[in-house]
Amino acid sequence: TPVPVFDLVIFGATGDLALRKLFPALARRLAEGVLPAGSRVVGVVRRVGSEDDLARLVAERLKEDGLSQREIDAFLPMLVPVRVDAKEPDSFKELEKVLSDGERVRAFYLSTPPDLFVPIGRNLALHGLLENGGRLILEKPLGHDLRSARAINGAIGEVLPEARTYRIDHYLGKETVQNLLVLRFANTLFERSWSSRDIDHVQITCAETVGLEKRAGYYDQVGALRDMVQNHVLQLLCLFAIEPPNTLDADAVRDEKVRVLRALRPIAGSEVLTKTVRGQYGAGSVDGRPVPGYLQELGHESMTETFAALRCELDTWRWAGVPIYLRTGKRMAERCSEIVVTFKPVPHSIFPARDSRTALEANRLIIRLQPNDGLRLQMMMKVPGSGRLKLVPRTLDLKYETAFDMRTPDAYERLLTDVIRGDQTLFMRRDEVEAAWSWIDPIVEGWHEYYAVPHRYQAGGWGPSQSIGMIEREGRSWAESD
Ligand code: BG6
Repeated sequence: TPVPVFDLVIFGATGDLALRKLFPALARRLAEGVLPAGSRVVGVVRRVGSEDDLARLVAERLKEDGLSQREIDAFLPMLVPVRVDAKEPDSFKELEKVLSDGERVRAFYLSTPPDLFVPIGRNLALHGLLENGGRLILEKPLGHDLRSARAINGAIGEVLPEARTYRIDHYLGKETVQNLLVLRFANTLFERSWSSRDIDHVQITCAETVGLEKRAGYYDQVGALRDMVQNHVLQLLCLFAIEPPNTLDADAVRDEKVRVLRALRPIAGSEVLTKTVRGQYGAGSVDGRPVPGYLQELGHESMTETFAALRCELDTWRWAGVPIYLRTGKRMAERCSEIVVTFKPVPHSIFPARDSRTALEANRLIIRLQPNDGLRLQMMMKVPGSGRLKLVPRTLDLKYETAFDMRTPDAYERLLTDVIRGDQTLFMRRDEVEAAWSWIDPIVEGWHEYYAVPHRYQAGGWGPSQSIGMIEREGRSWAESD
């Protein structure tokens, strides 16, 4: 479907996310001819006088992002700066003036701290700006626990129906994540073995090399569990584990995702000591250069975790007894997000198991999100030759880069145009967000109750040794990435 003419209003236009992700995404879509002529991107700035700065900041950023001068020049005329104070109802009159055309699709992206979601929503409603199909796009964090998430969702629900509320989780816009449904439901091969019958266990890793990135104020309040697991990692788990939806309809897919979240067995009380590991990076070296520890970066004491590993299980027929190990962390050895599926051994090996030449390794499917997106399937092969039989694991390797001769769009490119088209499939419904918090809250409480302080790990490694211990106790090991 073509994208209709729109006005996209970005609150927090000079913020990090807008400059780093949203404007480049829009400029690229424009360059690719996807955005219809006459559409506008309204950048909301807070300070008087900063209207003029916006175009300059955006232009600089687009250049850094590798857009050509021609592409930048094409984008800038779309940009309309406007000054609004989120908490000052009167200041929304300016916005009202700019948005006089009620015919076009109107969407408001709240790329602001969550305490502004409700005031902005109310002020937009007060000025009638959400009428005629207006949409709200909410960035994370959607609260810091179930209660605060419910409060935000409830208050937003009073000014806007769910069908026009778009809660962004940018992981859902990543190509490989969207491909999870295709992998499973468009290929006979995988879906047949997608259960405890054939799968031994699953690992989901989202490792980053970056540290605090000037986000100390936010991150230290939140930590890895709430910053990454509550949203991105659980969303990956949902798409990995869902039952086949009847259709690709937004709600059909989201109904199934909620079921996965609700089937997550709670980790509560003293279980946090055996089923979770918290870590915090100390000094070390990443990509060959020395980096300071978290506390040094922060400048004060903190008990916030920059790494979390969890062992979870889904209480469903399909997944009973299949451990799912999750881990995410900052300042890890490399940037790598992937889902690794380890299959069960063959029921009976006809190859002498005690002979190392013929011992079997389990099949593994590696779904690589980033970088080097692709799919790898590890399988046993006979070493060619007429000597003694020897078996080795080898990999079927499918890379996006070579399989498709095209640029992989950034997640936000896809998601922003989905909002304008009115497609909610890749956005989180209220009950999904709340179900995720319901599972996260007892873990946070358990950490407090049992004084689970984060274990120190060296920057540039794979997290604290306790995380390795957690999986090795069960006779398994974290997949080494390459
Ligand atoms: C954000 C988190 O949601 O996702 C960040 O707040 C994190 O802490 C980022 O760095 C990771 O996104 P990506 O797309 O770089 O994997």
